[in-house]
Amino acid sequence: MSRLDTAFNIEDLRKLARKKLPTPLFNYIDGGADDEINVRGNIHAFDSVRLVPEHLIDIANIDLSTQVLGRKISMPLFLAPTGMNRLFHPEGESAVSKAAAAADTYYCLSTVGATSIEDVAAACDGPKCFQIYVMKDRGLTREFIQRCKDAKYDSLALTVDIPVAGNRERELRYGFSTPPKLNFAGIAGFAARPGWVYRALTNPKAILANVAHKIPEGSSQSTSLMEYVASQFDPSVTWDDLEWMISEWGGPFAIKGVLSASDARKAVDAGVSAIMVSNHGGRQLDGTLSVFEALGPIVDAVAGECEIICDGGVRRGTHVLKALALGATACSIGRPYLYGLAAGGEAGVARVLEMLRTEIERDMALLGCRKINEVSGKHIA
Ligand SMILES: Cc1cc2nc3c(=O)[nH]c(=O)nc-3n(C[C@H](O)[C@H](O)[C@H](O)COP(=O)(O)O)c2cc1C
Repeated sequence: MSRLDTAFNIEDLRKLARKKLPTPLFNYIDGGADDEINVRGNIHAFDSVRLVPEHLIDIANIDLSTQVLGRKISMPLFLAPTGMNRLFHPEGESAVSKAAAAADTYYCLSTVGATSIEDVAAACDGPKCFQIYVMKDRGLTREFIQRCKDAKYDSLALTVDIPVAGNRERELRYGFSTPPKLNFAGIAGFAARPGWVYRALTNPKAILANVAHKIPEGSSQSTSLMEYVASQFDPSVTWDDLEWMISEWGGPFAIKGVLSASDARKAVDAGVSAIMVSNHGGRQLDGTLSVFEALGPIVDAVAGECEIICDGGVRRGTHVLKALALGATACSIGRPYLYGLAAGGEAGVARVLEMLRTEIERDMALLGCRKINEVSGKHIA
């Protein structure tokens, strides 16, 4: 029995990831901003909702498939963008995107991924989205859009909830800052995981593969890259920029990080295909609405006019069904697949997707639903 087979839920995989990763890296994944009210609150809000099953319905055939951002996917769950995946496993984003394709679901690559737009396209023949952070060098946004067209990505997403970086104190405690200045606790955390250190030394260095070509000549250190990216996030992005990107791309386009009904309205008016209701997994402004709390008013404001994706705190099949019952099109996950990646590479991510698919399917049967669109408001209280 492999170690992955001993994991029966996401929390089990989180524990496996904690054993494999240097403490600073585990905390980079696991932590959030300020007092981490949102990290806990996102999960708690899903847990607080009650499901209302109906019985004596023929549930012999259950179909989990749905449509997201121009592609049919095999279940209402996909993989949200997360940065620097090669820090957690040498195969990084390639492994994650391959596992998503094998599960027939969407993969979103981050601007700050450690694998390039083109390398992910080569690894993954499934549905792909590229998540954009707008840099001060606006030429880079234009370049991303062209590269995604050339590499045949299906969709783009603009993340809007990080005009400045959140205050992530778990990272600061280890000196895992921008640029990194590891303190004693940080160095000790790496020293305690020689397996990780060995892999890091024997594999190509993890770099910000999509922006690496933009750092000034002669400064090849990753510190310079981190400094470059931190200094290049553009805090002056507005709705006009969103409209420009949507028209420049010309295909399915999502806005990620919306929590208010009024922003949802503006996003639909700007022409988005999907709204990703998200508080960045609790890594940005702490003490906002949880994702589940934000979902209802957004559904009321724009349901039927665009797809509504929900991310933050999804850890169980029942969480996905609760979001669907409130009107979400689908959910996505961040930390759960990073735990899987750290615990077992591509097989670990596959385990997460299989686990959650099995839960969603079982929970649909227990709820009395055969198709995703049968899950509705009557199923929650
Ligand atoms: C380690 C880590 C890195 C992330 N990097 C990005 C990123 O580069 N771009 C982005 O839009 N969101 C990023 N996110 C947020 C995720 O896309 C997603 O919104 C969040 O993880 C969902 O919450 P969950 O982790 O509880 O599932 C990151 C999240 C984590 C945990």
